[in-house]
Amino acid sequence: MYDIVVIGSINADLVFKADKRPNPGETLLGNDFKTVPGGKGANQAIAAARLGSKVAMLGCLGKDQNGVFLEENLKINNVDTKYIKKVNDVPSGVAGIVLAEGDNSIIVVPGANYQVDKEYIDKNIDVILESKIVLLQLEIPIDVVEYVIDLCSKNNVKTILNPAPIQKLKRSILDKLDFVTPNEHEFEILYGSNNEEKILKEQKNKLIITKGSKGVVFSDGDEVINIPSLEVEVVDTTGAGDTFNGAFAQSIVKGKTVEESIKFANIAGAISVTKFGAQGGMPTLKEINEFIKKRKV
Ligand code: RIB
Repeated sequence: MYDIVVIGSINADLVFKADKRPNPGETLLGNDFKTVPGGKGANQAIAAARLGSKVAMLGCLGKDQNGVFLEENLKINNVDTKYIKKVNDVPSGVAGIVLAEGDNSIIVVPGANYQVDKEYIDKNIDVILESKIVLLQLEIPIDVVEYVIDLCSKNNVKTILNPAPIQKLKRSILDKLDFVTPNEHEFEILYGSNNEEKILKEQKNKLIITKGSKGVVFSDGDEVINIPSLEVEVVDTTGAGDTFNGAFAQSIVKGKTVEESIKFANIAGAISVTKFGAQGGMPTLKEINEFIKKRKV
């Protein structure tokens, strides 16, 4: 039995560093290039595993070099990879990332990630329904995400959806989730409204909106609570949201409250941006405790 089952994407991140991002039609000389492991699913799985959760990754990889490298990386980070399906004739997912002017721009080509289908879910139904929490994103086909949410809800298995990259989801599906963690832009598309306070109160202890430097907001039903962001030296923001989600899941599994879990995940997210790569800065529990002691947060 796993603490957390992540069903989602596994990508190779091809990261280009430059002083500025190119305009349409422009060719620029960059400063650096690296290939590092990524994918919102794999990132969130590793974030939780680094913090001590027992995690299984469900998803698809191609039978290519990236597939080998990405599976090995999950294993090194103590994520169980035995349920990952290797698919023929489709490459593993890749993300082209431009790091410039203090932020990232990302294009994901899903490749094998889009081979995750309902049949694969049915085949792995036992491991999914025996887990304490199922963590999902939107880099696999949306009908499969909806199928998993429905199955989990019918079987009383907790779910967290990080709705990125954003796609519109049916309200009936959103209602079946235990937690949903959009950023501001994703929130507006999902809930179709700018009446944030009202919706936060309606969706108490469930809707958690991450707002970058403005912190994280949620409601306990009575009031809207803002957990402020933490000041750190930023190297690379890629994967900060994934670290937040993995750490939040870990904390909820440990039986912490929503507020405690947001505070914990906020610290993990802040530490994650101090190093290069989506997974490079994801902290261990020890690093989080040191940060808490040093910063008195
Ligand atoms: O959230 C960051 C991730 O988004 C990257 O690792 C990239 O692979 C894309 O999935």
